[in-house]
Amino acid sequence: MKGCFITFEGTEGCGKSTQIKLLAERLRLLGHRVRLLREPGGTPIGEEIRHTLKHSQNNHAMTPEAELLLMNASRAQLVREVIRPALAAGEVVLSDRFYDSTTAYQGYGRELDLEKVKAVIDFAVGDTRPDVTLFMHVPAEVSAERIRSRQTTLPLELQRDRFEEADRKFFERVAHGFGVIAAAEPERVKFVNGAQPIEIVCAEIWRMVQPVLPKVGRW
Ligand code: TMP
Repeated sequence: MKGCFITFEGTEGCGKSTQIKLLAERLRLLGHRVRLLREPGGTPIGEEIRHTLKHSQNNHAMTPEAELLLMNASRAQLVREVIRPALAAGEVVLSDRFYDSTTAYQGYGRELDLEKVKAVIDFAVGDTRPDVTLFMHVPAEVSAERIRSRQTTLPLELQRDRFEEADRKFFERVAHGFGVIAAAEPERVKFVNGAQPIEIVCAEIWRMVQPVLPKVGRW
């Protein structure tokens, strides 16, 4: 039995967290076993690393190199502890971000050497690669507005996010990085216009994931 692995990517506020939940619900209704994950995180070790990367009061001095390695420490754990066993059991694994985020944020955003970034990612994931990646794109102004309105709804300890403190140029480089990734691997990475109404985005995503879904009894 072989499951399938679908990842969602994009800059902050692109709508991927909403869409990944809608997709999970739809798949469950059809009888699929679904594993919903997020990166960094998704395991007890990964969630601690996530806190260190994003919200810890002690992370102000974190270097881009440490950030790259922590992201991939979380990922190496997630791949072996959760993703591989779930795929082997025939589950549909949905992950809110995966290694394209490292290429975009640490490679393009932090301007680390792209070959070195790739080598670290390869070490962390081995041959565990997404079957399809939904790259959700929204204009920078939409992204900034969504971040602002989301922050007021978050508990106090999650309101400070080290990534959201980066400057506009950083996010422009990240967005450019995602564009380069999508153009380089059009078979795997599907472009989704996240500025459209939720139902339309949802329908587009459904069309894109159908070819890779495993068969379930009710089909
Ligand atoms: P999010 O779960 O709210 O999207 O936050 C995750 C943050 O971590 C987001 O700012 C993107 C960043 N990130 C990286 O910089 N590199 C990575 O490899 C991953 C998975 C996330």
